[in-house]
Amino acid sequence: FEAVDAPAGVLVGRRGRVGLIVLDRPQALNALNNQAMDAVVTAAERFDVDDTIGAIVLTGAGRAFAAGADIKEMAELGYAEATGRDLFAGWDALTRIRTPLIAAVNGFALGGGCELAMMCDVIIAADTAKFGQPEINLGVVPGMGGTQRLTRAVGKAKAMELILTGRMMDAREAESAGLVARVVAADALLDDVLAMADGIAEKSLPALYAATELVDAAFESTLAEGVARERRTFHAAFALDDQKEGMRAFIEKREPRFTHR
Ligand code: CAA
Repeated sequence: FEAVDAPAGVLVGRRGRVGLIVLDRPQALNALNNQAMDAVVTAAERFDVDDTIGAIVLTGAGRAFAAGADIKEMAELGYAEATGRDLFAGWDALTRIRTPLIAAVNGFALGGGCELAMMCDVIIAADTAKFGQPEINLGVVPGMGGTQRLTRAVGKAKAMELILTGRMMDAREAESAGLVARVVAADALLDDVLAMADGIAEKSLPALYAATELVDAAFESTLAEGVARERRTFHAAFALDDQKEGMRAFIEKREPRFTHR
């Protein structure tokens, strides 16, 4: 990996067309403080405007992906401060990243850590990963999208149970519940996710942007609206040479070489 930047608590690098962001405060189980938020968002935004990057991987160093928002940083805040600085709103910027964003969840993904993973387009988990929304144990509720995204991902029954009890679920349970795309052996996680990211990064970027937008639209629109939008987006793909290249390559039994990647 070529190091791109090293803001406090986060490592940023790239390999080929893949950007890598590593939460790197293992002594605090990568608890998400303001510095980490700014560093992750800035790194992702820089990768997003860089046409030589076709996928971004987000992971954590050590035993955790992230064990949540930094409790020590927020414990003494009052309501006026929390609302005044619109605590956690800065993370919303990640949901506007158009380059496919893959969470490689290596250990604890709790509270804001689970919510951060859910802001990504895909979650791949190590078999040692643990997910949960334990905020209820702190006398609060999830604050980075957990009540909304977990419910959409796993349905009301399991989301309600997890959020009310604050219990953790393991990677297998998270996979069968639909939160996680795949579970892999912990020692193979990063290699596996980087290989997947390399593959995604070779595809047509406009098609990747369209695909992520359309899947996300499934949560924001009616079925009829979403299907109509998908069909028009499909039609629009025929305006690009990447469609010609992809379909011709198939017919000529060769790998496509997309222009817009
Ligand atoms: N914030 C700040 N520090 C944290 C942290 C967090 N969320 N999670 C862990 N740490 C720190 C611990 O305080 C400890 O630091 P010290 O060595 O200085 O004491 C260090 O990381 C290691 O943690 P533990 O000793 O607790 O490790 P463990 O293996 O015994 O337990 C754990 C691991 C079960 C994950 C436990 O650390 C834990 O429960 N963490 C908190 C999880 C949590 O409540 N997350 C939600 C936070 S609130 C939130 O995220 C709001 C939101 O919706 C955005």
